[in-house]
Amino acid sequence: MPLDSRGVPIPVSRPDFILSTQGKYVPIFLAGQGSSAQVWYAISRKDVAASDASPAKLIGHICAVKVNIFNAIPVVLTKINNHPNDNTAEVMALSKIRDLAQGNMKKRFPQLLEALTGGDCKPTNSPWLAMRVVHGFELTHLLRFANILSCPVPEPLVYHLFVQLMEGLKFLHDNDMAKTDLQAANIMVDIALENAEFPGLCLPNFVLIDFGGYCEKNGVHMPKIERANLYHRIMSAFATNNHTCVNAVEKQVNICKNHDENWHIFVEMLKKYVRPDGLPWNTYIAMITLLDDKDMRVGGKLFEMAKTKRIQIIPSDRKIIEILVKDAVKDSPIKRNGFPSEEEVAKAIKDFRTYMS
Ligand SMILES: Nc1ncnc2c1ncn2[C@@H]1O[C@H](COP(=O)(O)OP(=O)(O)O)[C@@H](O)[C@H]1O
Ligand SMILES: [Mg+2]
Repeated sequence: MPLDSRGVPIPVSRPDFILSTQGKYVPIFLAGQGSSAQVWYAISRKDVAASDASPAKLIGHICAVKVNIFNAIPVVLTKINNHPNDNTAEVMALSKIRDLAQGNMKKRFPQLLEALTGGDCKPTNSPWLAMRVVHGFELTHLLRFANILSCPVPEPLVYHLFVQLMEGLKFLHDNDMAKTDLQAANIMVDIALENAEFPGLCLPNFVLIDFGGYCEKNGVHMPKIERANLYHRIMSAFATNNHTCVNAVEKQVNICKNHDENWHIFVEMLKKYVRPDGLPWNTYIAMITLLDDKDMRVGGKLFEMAKTKRIQIIPSDRKIIEILVKDAVKDSPIKRNGFPSEEEVAKAIKDFRTYMS
């Protein structure tokens, strides 16, 4: 992947994007980048063509278009070799989620708008998919920003993350789906107020993104392994980040005035699932299939505790959560531009028209 002198990925060019997406989308700028794809803020050409489409109105039509960059050039090779960067599995997963998710659950996943899968690509296109934009940033940046500020992530925010993502995972597992690529870079912090579960409580909505590695659930232990090896591990890192007192000897419940016994039990439970250094993979899998995480799952004792405590936000926590949620975006190297402005939308449309003429 091409990088600039600061190690920041260089976006595919606008013409590449336009060619790949068959001229259907006007690219604005890069929203994010993973190992297989680039995601651009973009607007559908149809929306731009609407007679009353002013930049102010078009802001509301911005979506996220994911282009499988490594397919952009050797697309023919890709098809012959059944390249793993094809997006067929991801489109299948997002279609299934679109059909099955109800109510709030819709907000915990990318919402698919339209797509071109690898099998339907002409040699000049690459697979792409358009989805509703998530107005926010990756969880990785929230953690990094908390480190810059040297503060623990406030308990209510940890509990809230835990509850929302556990509900999302349950939805997937109940519907015979496995996420597989669960990591902080594939979780987005959605700061749009209209998506907040508790309006006025400064808790963002968390979205599980990137279904590129999606597979049908197989094997009885798969959900447990996915929870333990991926989810509980992420949550443990998140909960213990700068919470040095958590590692203190035994249950020194009063060591930090913000931590009660529930927190210690919760964190100790999470830590049980983290693979100890040097433990062979097979031994680890055998170990976690024996561990019981029913208290942590939806309806379980610790889950219900987290659900209750996420909304008990004291003023100092509130202040930190507000800073983290508002300013972590500045720590993202790719999003140094933030969300597109009207001027940027107008310029993108002008450039698009010039290119197409
Ligand atoms: N719907 C979306 N709205 C806004 N940004 C997004 C959206 N989906 C993905 N992104 C951004 O793009 C990045 C790469 O997307 P991802 O699906 O994880 O690609 P990859 O499969 O290459 O890892 C994400 O980490 C995130 O920053
Ligand atoms: Mg990713």
